[in-house]
Amino acid sequence: MGFEITIEKSEISRIKNFDPQNIGFGKIFTDHMFLANWDGNEWINPRIVPYGPLSLSPATSAIHYGQSIFEGMKAFKSQKDGKTLLFRPLENCKRLNKSAERMVMPSVPEALFMSGLTTLLTLDEAWIPKTEGGALYIRPYMFATDDFIGVKPSENFIFAIFCCPVGPYYTKALKVKVEDEFSRAAPGGVGFTKCAGNYGAAMYPTQKAQQEGFDQILWTDPVSHQWVEETGTTNLFAVIGNTVVTPSLTNTLLAGITRDSVITGLRHLGYTVEERPLSVQELKDAVVNSTLKEMFITGTAATLISIQGFSHKSEYFEVLDKGNTDTSLAIKTFLDSLRYGNITDPFGWTVVV
Ligand SMILES: Cc1ncc(COP(=O)(O)O)c(C=O)c1O
Repeated sequence: MGFEITIEKSEISRIKNFDPQNIGFGKIFTDHMFLANWDGNEWINPRIVPYGPLSLSPATSAIHYGQSIFEGMKAFKSQKDGKTLLFRPLENCKRLNKSAERMVMPSVPEALFMSGLTTLLTLDEAWIPKTEGGALYIRPYMFATDDFIGVKPSENFIFAIFCCPVGPYYTKALKVKVEDEFSRAAPGGVGFTKCAGNYGAAMYPTQKAQQEGFDQILWTDPVSHQWVEETGTTNLFAVIGNTVVTPSLTNTLLAGITRDSVITGLRHLGYTVEERPLSVQELKDAVVNSTLKEMFITGTAATLISIQGFSHKSEYFEVLDKGNTDTSLAIKTFLDSLRYGNITDPFGWTVVV
């Protein structure tokens, strides 16, 4: 199915105000955005317009009942030939549609997702930072737009994409709090989706952890709080002895695309990786026995960052006391080389725009 995208260009580019040496994260937006409407039957009016406010009814159903989902992905400038590269974009489209199904929202065809995305990136290409660790963060999202009060699935939706040039999300190894009071998701719930409510619900416990001096929460299973799951926006890896362990996927955590790339990449590099339940006790024992060599988290926004230590029930466990980052550095270097087009991609993950 082909989609004809109309383009209304912004009259003046804001790029001259953009300082690539001082980007931060999520505060600067490129000149254009992509929009398409679901009219209850089909996607209509796919269009690029200048980035700017949307006009919405106060009764907009997404605001009241939470039918709102999103994705996060990045475009990179190839350090070899300057071409624009995407990393596994179809995986984001698949995950968006998984979230959509659970939230009773329409599916976005790959052709619409990719043509909206590539048209937008072609127009706003100059915004992709060429700085070390810089990228264009891309936010595809969909929300319910019925002008209606009453709890029922909306009939109308907007699918949109906008972009922000970004630098590193975290700049130093993190201290995390193993959460054993609050829960992020429940079995049978929506933890495996990127629905907006998951993030709103996590803010109170995360703010509490930050007030206690931690950078992030390490969520545990909602029933026993004995099994570690993921952090706020990343998946978790631990190097125990000579094995890299990551919690197996359940319906209470998000199947990160970076997580999958780290598992595949590490195996390609000759490491042993296990996807299995990982208990708080195993991590604590491994610190005590000096077998916990590294802990790190992975995600599109955060990329890959080490965990310096974790607290559990007010006891603090130092992971990086020996300063070991061999495994995390190896996989970070490998994935960055793929993302920035510096090595041949053995998996067909990078897509040239
Ligand atoms: C809750 C959660 N876990 C993990 C991740 C990492 O996923 P990805 O690697 O696809 O960015 C994210 C980010 O999307 C997230 O929001």
